[in-house]
Amino acid sequence: VQQLLPADAQQRVMDQLYQFMELEHLYESASREVKTKLEILDSEFKTKYDHNPIHHLEDRVKSPQSILEKLNRKGIPFSCDNAKRELNDIAGVRVVCNYIDDIYTVADLLTAQDDVKLIKRKDYIQNPKPNGYRSLHLTIRLPVFFAEKEIHVPVEIQLRTIAMDFWASLEHTIRYKK
Ligand code: GTP
Ligand code: MG
Repeated sequence: VQQLLPADAQQRVMDQLYQFMELEHLYESASREVKTKLEILDSEFKTKYDHNPIHHLEDRVKSPQSILEKLNRKGIPFSCDNAKRELNDIAGVRVVCNYIDDIYTVADLLTAQDDVKLIKRKDYIQNPKPNGYRSLHLTIRLPVFFAEKEIHVPVEIQLRTIAMDFWASLEHTIRYKK
């Protein structure tokens, strides 16, 4: 027969679980706000210029496992509060564009919006990594409105062309296979 956890320990486990569900909801919501902004820009270009700058969007919220690993690497104890404080890439949106010019157009228009604050910009297109990786990385912060509060949430955005995306996914597969 399995031993039940004492009531206080059970409560702690439940508290952690709920905190984590709230964290996922927070970052999923922020991703959705970012994706909506990008979709609106894309459809505006389609209407005005008969051209879609964005080929497709992907998004992901970092898994608890990856959050744990990243905090470990930084030597920070695992908790939801530490994750929110220390990690700016819990929410990630990937913007796969048709042309390089589209990347800069979309990035500039997004970061010019009043409610979007640019925190970090790394241009691996102008300056590719030694292995050949190319993408424009932005970390932005934007407000998300909930029933009782407004939270400014960081989102990491990777913008790349279809060709850069193809290269990155192959390189990623090779790196993790060896
Ligand atoms: P980490 O977020 O801890 O990786 O460090 P960082 O803040 O210096 O991140 P950086 O902006 O360099 O990279 C963030 C993300 O870009 C990674 O999690 C990958 O998704 C992607 N990325 C960066 N470098 C490479 C690379 O060489 N190959 C591939 N396939 N993806 C990369
Ligand atoms: Mg990262």
